[in-house]
Amino acid sequence: MSAEDLVGARPFSCGTIIKYTLRIADRARAATTPKKQFMPEHKIPDGSEVYGDAVLYDAEDKQSQDDLPFYLAAARRARGPVLELACGTGRLTLALARAGIDITGLDISAPMLALAKKKAGKGGARVAFVRGDVRSFRLKRKFKLIFIPFNSMQHLADRVDLENFFTSVRAHLAPGGRFILDVFNPHPGYFVRDTEELLPVSCYKDPRGTEQILVEEQYSYDRATQVSRITWHYTRGRTRFASRHLNMRCFFPVELDALLHYNGFKALKKYGDFERTPFDSASPKQVIICRKA
Ligand SMILES: C[S@@+](CC[C@H](N)C(=O)[O-])C[C@H]1O[C@@H](n2cnc3c(N)ncnc32)[C@H](O)[C@@H]1O
Repeated sequence: MSAEDLVGARPFSCGTIIKYTLRIADRARAATTPKKQFMPEHKIPDGSEVYGDAVLYDAEDKQSQDDLPFYLAAARRARGPVLELACGTGRLTLALARAGIDITGLDISAPMLALAKKKAGKGGARVAFVRGDVRSFRLKRKFKLIFIPFNSMQHLADRVDLENFFTSVRAHLAPGGRFILDVFNPHPGYFVRDTEELLPVSCYKDPRGTEQILVEEQYSYDRATQVSRITWHYTRGRTRFASRHLNMRCFFPVELDALLHYNGFKALKKYGDFERTPFDSASPKQVIICRKA
């Protein structure tokens, strides 16, 4: 069945949606140093817009939970304070806090953090949410575990951003602490996709109504910057009501290993998924556990 078959027969049915796992996107312009001022609320520094509507993003985001047991086990093993970078609306942060973990969540998006705090208030979870940039945060605390889950590091597109990010992480790791990241393992098939093609990526109930929302993806890959430029088109019933950009830089496996090495980290384990399958050519993900070198 082609994507056209899936989206051609509207009104759509969620039962026909193929969950499309690679949600990589891109960024075109190189940044210089981290900006001190925050971006407009609907954008993050790499230009991505999908986090501007936190309620809509959260409705889609919460469908993913395959990483929770992995991060919960890592947090328990840390036996000390935990910092989640790019915590968004607290999908993982709140679950870990409810499990008794002493956790801080940091994110740059005001709408995402506002929703995270609201959810924490409702659920009675004790968790500190902080607005900050992963490239330049300064917290007066060190952590036994710092993690940046759900491909969020793919919002850091250039070398300087990454160097600043790694420096900030190193400065906040307690002795013996661990740093964990997960990003996609880039699949060459995505780089040759037809840029006009629309593929359904998810379908979920409108958090502000009763209808289903279908999200279709348009994708193009910039080979110069290694950034995937994605546009998500949102349809409710028969009406497309929004189109928003998502940019994600791709990290090729050997490149990522080198980046960690040259930025003062030693990779202790590299998995290909959250079941801890050893990383190999067919792995969908790169899940890396590090310590300071
Ligand atoms: C894919 S979402 C992940 C949300 C959450 N961690 C989860 O697992 O559901 C990516 C998050 O990265 C945040 N983000 C992107 N660039 C950032 C930056 N430079 N500093 C802090 N947060 C950033 C976005 O605001 C967004 O909430």
